[in-house]
Amino acid sequence: MTPRRSLVTGGFGFIGGHLVERLLRRGDDVVVVDPAPAPPDLRDDRAAVRHVPCDVRDAEALRLVDVTGVDEVYHLSSLVGVDRYLSDPLDVVDTSVLGTRNVLDLARRARAKLVLASTSEVYGKNPVAPWAEDADRVLGSTAADRWSYSSSKAVAEHLALAYAHRFGLRLSIVRYFNVYGPRQRPAYVISRTLHRLLRGERPLLYDGGEQTRCFTYVDDAVEATLLTGGSGAADGEVLNIGSDQEWTMAEAVDLVRSAVGSDAEPVVLRTRSAFGEAYEDIPRRVPDVSKARRILGWRWGVPLGAGVARTVAWAHRSPWWAAAEPPGGCPGGNAETNRATGRTDGHVR
Ligand SMILES: NC(=O)c1ccc[n+]([C@@H]2O[C@H](COP(=O)([O-])OP(=O)(O)OC[C@H]3O[C@@H](n4cnc5c(N)ncnc54)[C@H](O)[C@@H]3O)[C@@H](O)[C@H]2O)c1
Repeated sequence: MTPRRSLVTGGFGFIGGHLVERLLRRGDDVVVVDPAPAPPDLRDDRAAVRHVPCDVRDAEALRLVDVTGVDEVYHLSSLVGVDRYLSDPLDVVDTSVLGTRNVLDLARRARAKLVLASTSEVYGKNPVAPWAEDADRVLGSTAADRWSYSSSKAVAEHLALAYAHRFGLRLSIVRYFNVYGPRQRPAYVISRTLHRLLRGERPLLYDGGEQTRCFTYVDDAVEATLLTGGSGAADGEVLNIGSDQEWTMAEAVDLVRSAVGSDAEPVVLRTRSAFGEAYEDIPRRVPDVSKARRILGWRWGVPLGAGVARTVAWAHRSPWWAAAEPPGGCPGGNAETNRATGRTDGHVR
């Protein structure tokens, strides 16, 4: 039997890398479109993957990608992280809008099913949680770059749904909620806290840490993504993919501290001093996950404690990750001298 062939944009990123591993285990031929190299611990699988090191904004280059036999396209490439929305909003918007348009054309050419990775950020700061997929989007001013990601992902969703409408393209949209796990860039609360603790630095806590999130272990997110790719019932649908167990940021930081066995006190910062006065954090982010359960039969399975323990164990086996510099321009990155035993920039709780 001819193996299934899947194409993953952003396949050498955090979620993409885990998805590629699962596709290879399932026996697929895998094409990865990503200008980045494979992460160190995915290198063993490199021979099994056809790597096209191309930028999804480059329509001409994408037209040259051989899509023969591609059945499923997973479109994950994106610029992710508050540091990027603030430092590079043009690239954030272009990657999402131009890139998605080009990948939609590629999926059309392949006559493949497309799964578009979107985000809980599209709901913005809607105060009425939990959010079902048809909940309102509540955003701030376009003068605040922090909304560039949310808005451009929403435009990518509109583009995708318009392609389905006009061209009959089979596609689904998955909105991930705070995915974490091995290999994640240390720019998010779980990965950043772990990365800092392993480097002997104190964790960071913004605005007192009472904001809540529902953290989703990467294997759960990948499972839901694959189910979506294979599900006819999910065609044309938007699905929240996440845990619905709510944690405060302070609790999440504490959990990582105890998993590492650290008693380093967090450095408390104000988001507005860190990211600028126009920055708004989301106080509460909770998905309604009943639709994914109904359509895919999927529900998240890995509780935060177990997922953090797996991530810590992986990090101990993967010293290259803690050795890598944290993202530049990310408050709490290189600039601060808040070592566990040293001076602090914020006041200490
Ligand atoms: N991690 C999360 O919690 C989360 C939450 C919501 C949504 N998402 C979405 O899931 C997807 C994957 O996120 P991730 O956390 O793995 O991010 P990531 O940054 O780890 O991976 C993104 C990948 O996209 C690639 N990429 C960036 N610009 C590109 C371009 N112009 N052309 C081709 N490739 C490009 C990068 O090289 C990288 O490998 C993204 O679409 C993101 O918006 C992630």
